[in-house]
Amino acid sequence: SADVGLNLTNIQGDILIGMKKNKELFFFFTIVNPTLFRSQLGSGILPLITPTSQLLAVDTQPTTAVNIAFSQRGLNALGITDDLGDTAFTNGQIDNVATILGDETSNWEPAFAGTGIHGVFLLASDTIDNVNATLSQVQNILNGSITEAYSLQGQARPGDEQGHEHFGFMDGISNPAVTGFSTPLPGQQVLDPGLFLLGESGDLVSRPSWAKDGSFLAFRQLQQRVPEFNAFLVDNALSNPNLTADQNAELLGARMMGRWKSGAPVDLAPTVDDPVLAADPQQNNNFNYTHPGFDEATDQTHCPFSAHVRKTNPRSDLNPEDTANHIIRAGIPYGPEVTDAENASNVSSTDPSLERGLAFVAYQSDINNGFAFLQQNWANNANFIFGKATPPGIDPIIGTGGLGQADVPRTPSGLDPSDPTRIITINQDFVVSRGGEYFFSPSLSAIQNTLSL
Ligand code: HEM
Repeated sequence: SADVGLNLTNIQGDILIGMKKNKELFFFFTIVNPTLFRSQLGSGILPLITPTSQLLAVDTQPTTAVNIAFSQRGLNALGITDDLGDTAFTNGQIDNVATILGDETSNWEPAFAGTGIHGVFLLASDTIDNVNATLSQVQNILNGSITEAYSLQGQARPGDEQGHEHFGFMDGISNPAVTGFSTPLPGQQVLDPGLFLLGESGDLVSRPSWAKDGSFLAFRQLQQRVPEFNAFLVDNALSNPNLTADQNAELLGARMMGRWKSGAPVDLAPTVDDPVLAADPQQNNNFNYTHPGFDEATDQTHCPFSAHVRKTNPRSDLNPEDTANHIIRAGIPYGPEVTDAENASNVSSTDPSLERGLAFVAYQSDINNGFAFLQQNWANNANFIFGKATPPGIDPIIGTGGLGQADVPRTPSGLDPSDPTRIITINQDFVVSRGGEYFFSPSLSAIQNTLSL
């Protein structure tokens, strides 16, 4: 990475590169004493906040990285009344539930549906003991000015599954590169910093000056029904005669995601996994869904139009390529591995301590152009990607079939390469939104000069 333009000591570390630790606690809090909170924030908390610059080199990384972000309710509680210029943030995520996101509100964690979430601490380290020690330190400094509203402990999966989300697929491969910050890898789109950071080049909205170099954080607790997903793949395995039944089930999963579990993109490795390609950053993102001699309106022999990664980043399907609707993802899995009993029954346990999923984090300078746009206009829109001979159907991983209702059948086409018009009906949601909130992750100077007293 070459720093040519951005003030990396001022931008919180999770936004551009992520904290990349195996344990990450999301500690959601309510501000009960705003004056005390504001005085402790600048004097005690600010020195703990990890800027981007500290994460760039291993020898400057703290034992526990700390970031902080505020909801609109939290800013209100602090008496900060400036309009940050983002209606989704101002109204809060609950306002987006049914029509935009398609969530069923009854599945929401009560804390996210309530009014008590003023902010979130992101605490990331190698061990939960380190995370908890830093949390105690934070609470001591804040001296009773906050209370816990909710918390979610994220953790990387064990052993060989490290870096993979709970369905088993390698995650965190494709994020945009940022002009003036990153050196792009082959296939990586380079975008203006203003798409992710307020007040930077490419941010077209008028903002209060103190909001510069902050970013909106869209948080989602996305439960994953892993045994049900696995059973679906077995029951609907494809029928390539050169593959075993297991391989045909794997192939279906890879086509729903757009990548193999290894991370190899199906656009480059359409019928068999290629772990060498998957592990090579010079190759594993270098594709754009176009192939000489194939018709882009009909060809799904490489990647289905409905594949999750294609629905959420259509690359050269859009001409010119989209430069407005992008997010930087920084999520981490939460919850335990699937138990033998769940595997045997093909049903997720209802025991809350066995819930698992993705603690989803997306950064953008405009939520309605970023996370909310991707979910509503692309993932949940059966006709997107537009202009294809067969309508793709909604995203088979994260799309919701009936807005505001759970388990409405989804009908993606293109998953079966031998008959791309064939629809494989999915009768249940494998990803269930348990809710979330929109936050503003301010710059360190804003924490010091505007949020603190
Ligand atoms: C990529 C899984 C939710 C947007 C990926 C990848 C996986 C994955 C395995 C491929 C790895 C990579 O390219 O880095 C999941 C799972 C989810 C989930 C299991 C839910 C539990 C979401 C949501 C959004 C989203 C809610 C946005 C609305 C993206 C984007 C990419 C991606 C933009 C990169 C696509 C590309 O650039 O090629 N996801 N995801 N994901 N996902 Fe998700």
